[in-house]
Amino acid sequence: MEIKTLILGAGAAGLFAAAHAGPGVVVIDHADRPGEKIRISGGGRCNFTNRDLTPANFISENRHFAKSALARYTPADFIALLDAVGISWHEKTLGQLFCDGKATQIVSLLTDMIARNKADLWLQTQIDDVSHDGQRFRLRLTRAGKPMVVTAQNLVVATGGKSIPKMGATGIAYQIAAQFGLRVTDTRAGLVPFAFSNDQFTPLAGVARYVVAHASRGPAFAEALLFTHRGLSGPAMLQISSYWRDGETIDIDLLAGSDLTSALQAARHTDPRKQAVTLLGQHLPGRLVEHLSGVFDVSGTIAQWSDQRIGTLVHILRNWRLSPTGTEGYRTAEVTLGGVATDGLSSQTMEAKSVPGLYFIGEAVDVTGWLGGFNFQWAWASGHAAATAIAQG
Ligand code: FDA
Repeated sequence: MEIKTLILGAGAAGLFAAAHAGPGVVVIDHADRPGEKIRISGGGRCNFTNRDLTPANFISENRHFAKSALARYTPADFIALLDAVGISWHEKTLGQLFCDGKATQIVSLLTDMIARNKADLWLQTQIDDVSHDGQRFRLRLTRAGKPMVVTAQNLVVATGGKSIPKMGATGIAYQIAAQFGLRVTDTRAGLVPFAFSNDQFTPLAGVARYVVAHASRGPAFAEALLFTHRGLSGPAMLQISSYWRDGETIDIDLLAGSDLTSALQAARHTDPRKQAVTLLGQHLPGRLVEHLSGVFDVSGTIAQWSDQRIGTLVHILRNWRLSPTGTEGYRTAEVTLGGVATDGLSSQTMEAKSVPGLYFIGEAVDVTGWLGGFNFQWAWASGHAAATAIAQG
């Protein structure tokens, strides 16, 4: 069977590209349903973009690569698309836009768009072999149990990264890239909870706290931290996990935005006979104060606390340094950092410079967004860039 454009992967990037790539498109996926990560994203409401997006919200070997595609298909473009079909949305925090209703509305929007573009969607289709015969790409597939061969002028690889193998992630994009001589950068799990070897945080499981946190490299993030049975999660930890490397430390300011020094000094005059531990409980979650009392002497009335003792405690709380033993890995990671190296791709079209007709889009590429809708915006923008080039070609 001969087709113009074969898109591998019916996730966010593949579906969006299929909707814009003009006639003669087939999208294949080994899953039973398209857009599964969209469906479960954002707690079922899909954080589909971020209206404060800048190129600084992306991690890549080449921090300039994503700029062109992101500038040509913007958050405002995606918002306009949702507004046009009446999908309502709201801003949660930090520019993060979520659907008011279910995330499946976005999946339906995309499948409606590909149907309008008369693209075919083949689910439950395995990729057995990919080659190029000098003229066209040639793929051996197994569709609904039956082997078949498809040839295509364009091959768009939109099979994502390695995150959450249970949801069908395979890393096949990296194999295809390597097969065609493209470089693949090291990959690792990103936007993922930290794990610790002992169960030191188990008594704190469920406690949440607004913090400022950073890894040894990368920016600081002012967001929530959540203690879990296994370690540390919550947006602040997921963000810094993308910058963290094995063996490195992380730093957490547990007092972000609150002036504990002044509060305790003032209490020495207003409430001198109050136990320091009681006062601390007014500024920190009770279970955290309990945990703290195991590592720092918090006994006595506040009148007994010198400026120096207050200063030492505040310093400890502001500069909490931890050494994670690892992360939860691809099992729970929202994204895969690294991927198909950008130096082999055109930043205008996502086409491989050395293999005309071969495109890589979405998470498969070495472009990874922060938490907050940036990864879907990259999927839309890179998919749109490739599709526009194909439709015009
Ligand atoms: P994606 O992974 O979506 O799609 C790849 C497709 O290829 C899949 O359908 C897969 O089945 C298919 N495939 C893979 N290997 C194959 C093979 N060998 N043969 C055939 N098919 C194959 N981002 C964001 O911006 N906002 C958010 O709210 C969230 N929330 C979120 C929650 C959770 C739990 C996760 C895991 C991730 C997010 N993300 C997110 C990240 C976001 O989901 C992700 O970056 C995009 O889905 C990437 O889109 P792609 O189309 O590139 O890959």
